[in-house]
Amino acid sequence: MELRIPAADDLHIHLRNDERTLAAVKAVREGGACRVLAMPNTSPALATGEDATKYRHYLVMQGADFDILTTIKLMPTTTPEMITEAARLGVSAGKQYPLGVTTNSEDGVSDFRAMYPVYEAMAQSDMVLSLHGEVPGAFVMDAETEFLDELHRIHRAFPKLRIVLEHITTQAAVEAVRSLPDNVVATITDHHLDITLDDVIGSTIQPHHFCKPVAKRPSDRKALNEVVREGHPSFFSGTDSAPHLIADKENACGCAGIFNAPYHMQFLATHFDALEMLPRLADFTSKFGAEFYRLPPSGEEIMLIKRDVLVPNTYDGIVPFKAGQTLTYDLAW
Ligand code: NCD
Ligand code: DOR
Ligand code: ZN
Ligand code: ZN
Repeated sequence: MELRIPAADDLHIHLRNDERTLAAVKAVREGGACRVLAMPNTSPALATGEDATKYRHYLVMQGADFDILTTIKLMPTTTPEMITEAARLGVSAGKQYPLGVTTNSEDGVSDFRAMYPVYEAMAQSDMVLSLHGEVPGAFVMDAETEFLDELHRIHRAFPKLRIVLEHITTQAAVEAVRSLPDNVVATITDHHLDITLDDVIGSTIQPHHFCKPVAKRPSDRKALNEVVREGHPSFFSGTDSAPHLIADKENACGCAGIFNAPYHMQFLATHFDALEMLPRLADFTSKFGAEFYRLPPSGEEIMLIKRDVLVPNTYDGIVPFKAGQTLTYDLAW
């Protein structure tokens, strides 16, 4: 069985700005992607259009031979003028992290209402608002669901604003996005189609399955897979590939993040095949997201073939998603 489809657009990835970057960059093409939206929660954060432009150059120097869409991080210090300037420099999206919910979010937002002038500037510049949808301080299993009220409020206040609810993990989020018009969409990661909380803390602690938002219930995973199976264009692929060094994961205070980029399309083809929904793969990974971000077709293709591939235990000092397991689809080069 061979599948020739457009190369993937990974519309949510962490490429870092340190010793993890070479691996993070190399993994993009090895996992079958040719365009990415690079997240801004580096240290220091990408706060301005100029920061984002410099970061793109840095990634190219680190070997990135794929298209990089850039983002800036929306913080309490972000101004409408910074948005206008970033839009002028071609920044695709502003990513908002709630205060303290994930990696490098100590400068995140707690007063969403105070950000409204920034959202207004984004609506006027037609810049995408990218939301890490968890309420700061909420119980971790409820943090995404509780954020949905905020999503509806933002959408009501800025009905034309293009919004991505990132890395959704719940049936409630699927239903919320489904209920909204097509300028409010969601990304779904590889891992949230596959794991539940049982795979994180069910019988043993599995730090390499720990990410934010944390994987939820079997019913939530089912809802994510069903909306993908349905081929709903408001739901598309973003890996949230978020590499952390082994010592930072296997640690009493382990970091959140799953490194799934190196076997992204191999994993998804395996997963879609198992669920008998392979015909939905290309739209999910390579069409709906590009349309939302108004990207032309990349013109690049990948070939997936039915052939076992063993995911290595480590990848440049990072444990990849599905480490030590065999996938049933591989990329042919
Ligand atoms: C993500 C990451 O790894 O950078 N953070 C996390 O879970 N701790 C960022 C994100 O996707 O919001
Ligand atoms: O698991 C995650 N890791 N979720 C995020 O939101 C951020 C990320 C990271 O940067 O490590
Ligand atoms: Zn996030
Ligand atoms: Zn992320």
